[in-house]
Amino acid sequence: MAAKKTTKEMYIVGNWKMNPAAAEEARELAEALRSGLGKADVRVVVCPPYPFIPAVAAARAAAFELGGQDCSVHSEGAHTGEVSSAMLADLGCSYVIVGHSERRALGETDEIVNRKVKAALKAGLRPIIAIGEKSRDSFDTSGRFSAELDPIIKEQLAAALVGVSAQKARSVIIAYEPVWAIGTGHAASADDVFSVRIFLQKALRELYDASTEATIPILYGGSTDANSDALLAESGVDGFLVGGASLKAEEFIAMVADASRIGAQRTSS
Ligand code: PGA
Repeated sequence: MAAKKTTKEMYIVGNWKMNPAAAEEARELAEALRSGLGKADVRVVVCPPYPFIPAVAAARAAAFELGGQDCSVHSEGAHTGEVSSAMLADLGCSYVIVGHSERRALGETDEIVNRKVKAALKAGLRPIIAIGEKSRDSFDTSGRFSAELDPIIKEQLAAALVGVSAQKARSVIIAYEPVWAIGTGHAASADDVFSVRIFLQKALRELYDASTEATIPILYGGSTDANSDALLAESGVDGFLVGGASLKAEEFIAMVADASRIGAQRTSS
């Protein structure tokens, strides 16, 4: 008899970014998700802009979980414009995206990302740590993962987790988001994502140990849409962090259904 294979849960996380334009539209989108999402065996997380979190929280009726798109390094005090992890938790969030490349592009350093990861964990949120290289050149023409990619991804991963214990790391989610794929309509290939997924698992084993690594989901993000089921199946990642397609209820729901089907196949194989 084959040994029982342990598989991680599947995640589909929607990053709405600075959309939609008004709270009423956010409420409508949340309602469309609530009524369209069946009982899928997938953790579905929606990360709306801060001001819309209450409207989305009211409309979701437990159909999905909530996350912030960022958080402050601080926990309270005189920090104009900042939003703490505790505030997000108070509004019903269980997750927060940290280190998204669009924030790194505004000057967010690895050190800041690390402080945000710790702030999130302290408030009981699960940080979704986004890491990824800037250039497609990190892969050779056959899609093989080149040596130059190692330092960038490993550095971002290790830096984000400085001072995070193995116990705390069990709450973390890693999202591999190559900058060159985000918002371009050109997702990374399943081969690319497969290589990086294995590489990240090895790096997590080096940082912690195999049993801790086995609890840390690794997601992919960058131009995924309703046609990305092969990418999900073949790369072996534990789900997607979705930007543009998360604003279209039908596409997002289709991705959740795919993740549910692929997750069930993995558990039974
Ligand atoms: P995209 O964005 O799906 O629109 O490429 C992904 C992300 O930035 O998280």
